[in-house]
Amino acid sequence: MKIFIDSANIKEIDKWLSMGVVDGVTTNPSIMFREGLYDIEQGVRKIASLINPLPLSVEVTTNDLGEMLKQGRQFADWSPNIVVKIPQTNQDGVPCFGVMHQLEKMNIKVNATAALSLGQVILSAKAGATYISIFAGRVTDEGGNSSELIMNSVDILENGSFKSQIIVGSIRSVGDVLAAAIAGAHIITIPPQFIDKMADHKYTRDTVRQFIVDANQALEMMKKNKPQ
Ligand code: E4P
Repeated sequence: MKIFIDSANIKEIDKWLSMGVVDGVTTNPSIMFREGLYDIEQGVRKIASLINPLPLSVEVTTNDLGEMLKQGRQFADWSPNIVVKIPQTNQDGVPCFGVMHQLEKMNIKVNATAALSLGQVILSAKAGATYISIFAGRVTDEGGNSSELIMNSVDILENGSFKSQIIVGSIRSVGDVLAAAIAGAHIITIPPQFIDKMADHKYTRDTVRQFIVDANQALEMMKKNKPQ
């Protein structure tokens, strides 16, 4: 299983990258905006060169399918490790699988994003998307069962010999990360605040504190007992 970081914060990306726990980065227009990366090209180039050759997912910012294709080709020119995020449908419900298919045919990797149903996962896989992003938090928001969706999706992709890998995003808690891992997600993309929470435990700190106190006490005893 791989872990991606769902962030455009250079400091956070660098921190977890250097610890060797992150295999890629995902962003979306809202994440970029929150981080103040208003100039998408500049921000994307910076992150892409920091993590190269690991993949960086960047989402198209238009509702027009022809423009999506144009933007996808443009993004892919910025760096070889860029993956273009194409939504399942545009905001009017027009399916975007043709855009995914054309980009993949041009050897541009696609992350079929905002998947909320098994039907969408199947169509994205058929279109040839390299990654398919299931938005677990949003599935649960609607009363859906995200674990069941992840499990069924992975099952269908693997049994059908599709190349697509499931990325689980829209993570709202550490519990969501664990549930996605147990459901068999190929990749989980996690906002940095939850990676922090996964790393820390009060009892680990207490344990380490106790060991250091005892080690120092042992050192004192050793000095005291040293023959003069
Ligand atoms: C994943 O690729 C998306 O960027 C992200 O996880 C969406 O999460 P949200 O539902 O919190 O917006």
